[in-house]
Amino acid sequence: MTASRNPFTPTFGVVPFVMAGRDEQISNILNALDSGPGDPNLSTIFIGARGTGKTALLMYLARQAQQYGWIAVSVSALPGMLEDIYEQSLEKAREFVSSENQHHLTGVNVGGVFGVSWERSSSETGNWRTRMTRLLNELEEHNVGLLITVDEVRVTLDEMVALAATYQLFVGEGRRIGLLMAGLPHQVSALLRNENISFLRRAVQYHMERIPDYEVIDALRKTIEAEGRTASDQELARMAEASQGFPYMIQLVGSRVWSQHPEMKRISTQDVERGIDMARNDMRTRVLDATYRELSEGDLRFLEAMLEDEGASRVSDIAHRLGVSSGYAAQYKRRLLEQGVIGERGRGIVDFDIPFFREYLEGMRGSE
Ligand SMILES: Nc1ncnc2c1ncn2[C@@H]1O[C@H](COP(=O)(O)OP(=O)(O)OP(=O)(O)O)[C@@H](O)[C@H]1O
Ligand SMILES: [Mg+2]
Repeated sequence: MTASRNPFTPTFGVVPFVMAGRDEQISNILNALDSGPGDPNLSTIFIGARGTGKTALLMYLARQAQQYGWIAVSVSALPGMLEDIYEQSLEKAREFVSSENQHHLTGVNVGGVFGVSWERSSSETGNWRTRMTRLLNELEEHNVGLLITVDEVRVTLDEMVALAATYQLFVGEGRRIGLLMAGLPHQVSALLRNENISFLRRAVQYHMERIPDYEVIDALRKTIEAEGRTASDQELARMAEASQGFPYMIQLVGSRVWSQHPEMKRISTQDVERGIDMARNDMRTRVLDATYRELSEGDLRFLEAMLEDEGASRVSDIAHRLGVSSGYAAQYKRRLLEQGVIGERGRGIVDFDIPFFREYLEGMRGSE
């Protein structure tokens, strides 16, 4: 057998060849696109630490949307986002309608905002909301929906708040519109605390939990077999175990195992063991070392105090262990939450949010 292409995608922001798990989120949103205005799933927020697959999920859903008669525009919460949404919507609408025309409506003059006969200048007058309204009116005539995806949400961006507020008005008008958002836990919490857009609190929220092993196994198998290779149940189980349900690690493990002997049909036990070692190393150098270097002395002391607990820690216990006031400990907690290193598990309770970081710190401590 000649060496086949490595089908794994250990790169941030890339939709994997096979999505492991996430079935519930995907089917709820696709059903919502099918049923249209009024379905609560049309306003959804994905919340998760780095590498949990937020961007991949948004991109996957955006790609599927067209099959349900929706155009999808995708942005990150950065300055210029609103204009970007408008420009992309216009562009996608033109494409969609002209392909529709070729198939069903040959000869019918579509006109309007994105039709050929429309003067560009007249579509660009008015503020963002009026221009979007005009565009949505046009889409409505063709029964096309508009799905907006916003990645890396940040409440500090005024445009984020403006988008959410205008979106609420569009929803109120019964428009065929959807808003899927994704962000790090502390960014999403800050967004939801904003009084001006409190309606976002009613959006459906999904936490990007670890993917169960059986779903990881299934995705690994499908990915490997699609390229004409095989791995035994035992080997697949070993790869899933090493991934710990963390999407980025699934891709690292898959990719490293694959490239041991890409010319062989069967993936061997040795390929699996070597690949896992290399993937662990990648995880360390690409994610954990970088995170570690960004931490201050105080951050590290806080995290080391967490290691005494088997699982989640009480901030009050940590303060006690460090011999500091609870206010002082809360300061470090806040910093670490903002960096996405830890996450809240209830009032005054925190745990590690970056997979493998606990083990990494234990290793660092042991090696001192
Ligand atoms: N459901 C999944 N199954 C398998 N692999 C996945 C899945 N979702 C994402 N991945 C892979 O995991 C990696 C990280 O995904 P992604 O970039 O979407 O994470 P993210 O949550 O957006 O991270 P960040 O917060 O850093 O932007 C990528 O290599 C991607 O291909
Ligand atoms: Mg991302």
